[in-house]
Amino acid sequence: MIGVGLIGGSLARALRVAGVVDEVIGCGRSAANLEKAAELGVIDRFTHDPAEAVRGADMVFIAVPLGAMEQTFSAIKDYLGDATVVTDGGSVKGSVVVDARAAFGKVPTRLVPGHPIAGTERSGVDASFPELYQNRRVILTPLPETDSDALDRVTRMWQSCGAQVTSMGVAHHDEILAATSHLPHMLAFGLVDALVRMRKNDEIFRYAAGGFRDFTRIASSNPVMWRDICIANREALGEMLRGFSDEMAVLAETIRRADGDHLLEIFQRAKKARDRYVDGLGAVSKTDLE
Ligand SMILES: NC(=O)c1ccc[n+]([C@@H]2O[C@H](COP(=O)([O-])OP(=O)(O)OC[C@H]3O[C@@H](n4cnc5c(N)ncnc54)[C@H](OP(=O)(O)O)[C@@H]3O)[C@@H](O)[C@H]2O)c1
Repeated sequence: MIGVGLIGGSLARALRVAGVVDEVIGCGRSAANLEKAAELGVIDRFTHDPAEAVRGADMVFIAVPLGAMEQTFSAIKDYLGDATVVTDGGSVKGSVVVDARAAFGKVPTRLVPGHPIAGTERSGVDASFPELYQNRRVILTPLPETDSDALDRVTRMWQSCGAQVTSMGVAHHDEILAATSHLPHMLAFGLVDALVRMRKNDEIFRYAAGGFRDFTRIASSNPVMWRDICIANREALGEMLRGFSDEMAVLAETIRRADGDHLLEIFQRAKKARDRYVDGLGAVSKTDLE
């Protein structure tokens, strides 16, 4: 387990609850987080050396920020066994594939890029919990050269944690996540930062109520992690942000014109989509909304 924070720590805990691991070795930079992880029983032992961590391992899970992926791959590449499966939890998949290619010379057949669609705004092993992946989706983005046995083992690992595993292409994953996760995080970070920098922000925050709290919860997320996600997915996210700012310009103009009919149309369409999503009916298609 390289990176024993929210994502890595929760996976280790879930695998222990499922009874499918013999020994979990943690790896990271700070002794304090790893000592805590051992104390909590999340890992059995730890090392700061990725090469030592992967020696003799059946499965290596990498859950470090995206900016540390390439150096992690480089640090382990000469120490993996022939049968060792490597997978990761990084939020962007295109950059992980590029980093793997840079470190290994080609994407190893036993590397299965993955992304659990689960998380909270908290970080570190203290924030981890074994139920994080229960009934949550995990997207795997295997490449044509990915070994089917490695894919099968990673699939079964996530299923043992209660997750629903799906597969899709790398670029498709990054486009979908730009819309559903990365854009909303940009809105939350951007809104809070804009308000902080406004005059009288003390008063703005004093009177901020439930809606503000709900909407901005994710602006408490780890800044380093989000810096790395934005840079790693800059193309798809940039396109989403441009499209969204065009939509906001339309909304601003509709408000300026006091066009109540158009406002109602926008809000009713959004409410219908959101209610349906919360009801758990799954995907909302464009035709559903028309
Ligand atoms: N949080 C979410 O909601 C979420 C959801 C899905 C996927 N992800 C992805 O999962 C990964 C981990 O996120 P997280 O939320 O678990 O973050 P986290 O709680 O901050 O944990 C990251 C861990 O990585 C270690 N780390 C950081 N930099 C490192 C480096 N250069 N070398 C080795 N270890 C390093 C940290 O320990 P030290 O500082 O002690 O090294 C820390 O324990 C990220 O790639 C993220 O994109 C996150």
